[in-house]
Amino acid sequence: MRKNIVAGNWKMNNDLSQTESLLADLKVQTQTSNAEVMVAPTFTNLYQANEALKASNIEVIAQNMHFAEKGAYTGEISASMLKSIGVNTTILGHSERREYFKENDELLAKKVDAALANDIRVIFCFGEELADRKSGNEENIVEGQIKNALFHLEASAFKDIVLAYEPVWAIGTGETASPEQAQDMHAFIRKTLANTYGVEVANSVSILYGGSVKPANAQEIFSKPDVDGGLIGGASLKAEDFFAIVNAF
Ligand code: PGA
Repeated sequence: MRKNIVAGNWKMNNDLSQTESLLADLKVQTQTSNAEVMVAPTFTNLYQANEALKASNIEVIAQNMHFAEKGAYTGEISASMLKSIGVNTTILGHSERREYFKENDELLAKKVDAALANDIRVIFCFGEELADRKSGNEENIVEGQIKNALFHLEASAFKDIVLAYEPVWAIGTGETASPEQAQDMHAFIRKTLANTYGVEVANSVSILYGGSVKPANAQEIFSKPDVDGGLIGGASLKAEDFFAIVNAF
């Protein structure tokens, strides 16, 4: 059955000493929910974070990776490099990667393949922009993003895929999708999966919501039947707030 997951995406925040202090704060938090907990520091701090959290039940994950195994890709990080420091999960397709680094569905399909080929679990992000929602086109956009990057996969691959619905208009804006909007979209995503891969696969995939999740709104969002957790940006930078969200389950 699918798992509850709360993942913190630290984005391009925290140098080494700030990372060390956040890691120390995380280690003293108490978990009362049954959610899997993950944090995604920057590449430069992944090794450090993984060492520091080894004895905890917090998994350290990457924010991104390249599709090639190695070679002339200046500034990039490969799946095997992540594996070599004990990182077994990566976020892919975050809207900031799509917007600022022009990552498109075709590129993301290659990244997903490379991750899975290296036994790296993928948290695959997607979501519509405000104009899409205003024009009532959000389901078409989301369906396209999922199908183009993932629907070449065999059904069995979905055991290593977590989906993260992140409406772009709700990321870092303080504006959150209402619990009903999140539920409606998550149900639509599950139906889209079921139509191609069957109900059993659709019901086994965790679908996270992301976009201005805070301690104050987490419980209501997570209470929806098709919301299996959250991808948390800003609120994951304070251990207390992050664990308030984790414990909202
Ligand atoms: P936010 O970011 O929680 O700061 O809105 C979410 C995300 O980008 O994953």
